[in-house]
Amino acid sequence: MARAKEVEVKVKTSPVDSKDEILRAFGIELGGSVSGVAQGGSFVEQPTGPKLATHDPSTGNVLASVATATAAECGAVSRSADEAFRRWRMVPAPRRGEIVRRLGNAFRERKQDLARLISLENGKIMSEALGEVQEVIDICDFAVGLSRQLYGNQMHSERPFHRLTEQWHPLGAVGIISAFNFPLAVPGWGWAIAVACGDSIVWKPSSLTPLISIAAQKIFHEVTRSTEAEGIFNLVIGSGATTGEALLADPLVPLIQATGSCALGERVSTAVGKRGARAILELGGNNAVVVLDDADLDLALSAVVFGAVGTAGQRCTSTRRLILQRGIADAFVQRLARAYATVNIGDPLDGETLMGPLISADAVEAFLDGVATIKAQGGDLLYGGEVLPDRGGYYVQPTIFKSRGDMPVCAEEIFAPILHVFSVETLEQAIDLNNSVPQGLSSGLFTTNLHSAERWLSVAGSDCGIANVNAGTSGAEIGGAFGGEKATGGGRQAGSDAWKAYMRRQTCTINYGTELPLAQGVKFELHDA
Ligand code: UN1
Repeated sequence: MARAKEVEVKVKTSPVDSKDEILRAFGIELGGSVSGVAQGGSFVEQPTGPKLATHDPSTGNVLASVATATAAECGAVSRSADEAFRRWRMVPAPRRGEIVRRLGNAFRERKQDLARLISLENGKIMSEALGEVQEVIDICDFAVGLSRQLYGNQMHSERPFHRLTEQWHPLGAVGIISAFNFPLAVPGWGWAIAVACGDSIVWKPSSLTPLISIAAQKIFHEVTRSTEAEGIFNLVIGSGATTGEALLADPLVPLIQATGSCALGERVSTAVGKRGARAILELGGNNAVVVLDDADLDLALSAVVFGAVGTAGQRCTSTRRLILQRGIADAFVQRLARAYATVNIGDPLDGETLMGPLISADAVEAFLDGVATIKAQGGDLLYGGEVLPDRGGYYVQPTIFKSRGDMPVCAEEIFAPILHVFSVETLEQAIDLNNSVPQGLSSGLFTTNLHSAERWLSVAGSDCGIANVNAGTSGAEIGGAFGGEKATGGGRQAGSDAWKAYMRRQTCTINYGTELPLAQGVKFELHDA
C-alpha cells in the first residue's frame, strides 16, 4: 500500500451557545454544585459521598461539581426503588406505556437542550447528539407499543384437559450501569423497555457524564410527579468502587444492564453470578468493515469514515479494523486518507465540526499508548497519530495504520479514532480475520455480489451480534436487538424481543379435568389411598 500524503488537520472554532446557558436550561450553574442522587421522585439534598468534578472535554474546564452517593446511600436508593417497583408492577402494562409515551414526548420537547448538553459534556458533535436524543424518543415509541404486546406463548399440553402457557411478569428494580459515550440513548434502551415491563430503575451513569443523567432525571421527575410512576426512576452517581459495587451486590436489584469495557463485564458477571442475579452485558467491540473488489467504493468510503472517525472513535460500534481485498486496497487507502484530511476537528457545538474531542485526558493517554504500541508491534502509520496542538481540550488526529492481523494489539479495543487496515486475497480470509478477535459486536461487508453477501451472513460467516451488508458497523436502529457475542458479553438491548430479559418468565400448567395424569407417561398410583 502506498503511504498516504500527510495533511494538516484543521482545528476550527466558531461562536456557540454560551455554556452556562446550556447548563441553566436544566437548572445547573456553571461551576456550581448539584446532587447526583435521586430517590422516591426527588433529588437527595446533600448526598455525603465525595464530590465529583465534571469537565468540558473541548477545553478541559470544570463544568460543575456533583455530590455522589456513599454505599449506604446507594442501599437506601435500591430500597426505595424496590418499594416503587412493588406499586408499579400492579399498574396495567398499557397504562405503564402511557407514562413512557409522556416521557418520549418530554424528550421530544427538550431535544435541542439535551443535545446541547450531551455535546458540551460528552464532546460528540451536535448532529450525533441530536441523533442520540432521537434514539431515546424512538425507543420510547417502541416501548409504548410493546406495553400492549408483552405476549406469552401457549403450548399444546401432552396431557388431556390441561393447558400449558407462559406468562411474563415484571422483574424488579433494574440497575443500569451506563458509559460516557452514549450517556442518554443506551440507558434509555434499558429504562424505556424496563418501565413498560413494570420494573423500576436504579441508574448509575458514568462519572464522566453525570450532568446528562441529572438532566434526564429532572425530566423523569417532571413527568412522573403525582402519577403512579412517581419514584420508579432513581439515580446514584458515584465511583464504580463504591456505588457500582454496592449496586452489583444489592439483593434488591435482580438485573444489571451494563455497558462498558470487557473488564467491567467481568466484574459485573462475577458479582451478579454470585448472588444468582442476571446481567445484560454490552462490552467492548473491535468491529471490522470488509471491502471486496466488487464493492460500491463510494458507499464503503462514507461508511468507513463515519464508523472510524464519527464520535471520535468512541462508539462500541466504531470501525476499528478495515479489511480490504487486494485489488482495491491501495487506491482505497489513498482515498480514505484524503477523506480524513477534510474532516473538520473542533468545537463539537459548532455545526461545521465532524469530529470533537476525546472524553478526557486519560483517553488521550490511551490514544497515545495505542499509537506507540501499534508502532512497536510493526504497524505502519499512514495518517494522523498525533495529539492536536494544545488548545486546552482533548483533541487528537484520526489515525490510520497499516497493520497485520497477528499483531497482538489488533485484538484489543482502543477507545479512540484509530483504524487498522489489512489486505486479504479472498472473502474467506476476510471472514477469518473478522472473526479472529475476542470481541464480537458489529461487522459490515461491502460487496455487490449476492453470493458473497449471503456467505457473510451464513452460519460460517461473521460471528458478530451485528452483521451488515453494504452498511457500516455503527449507527444501528433501535428496532433490532443490539448486542454482541464472545467477549462483548452476549447481552441484547433495545428492540426485537430484547424486552424478555427485563421480565421473569413463568410457565403455568392448568388442569381443568378431574384426573391427574403425569407427563412422560409416568405412573404413580397410591394403592391404599
Ligand atoms: C454504543 O456505542 O455503546 O449502533 C452504542 C450505534 C448506536 C449505539 C452505539 N446506535 O452505533
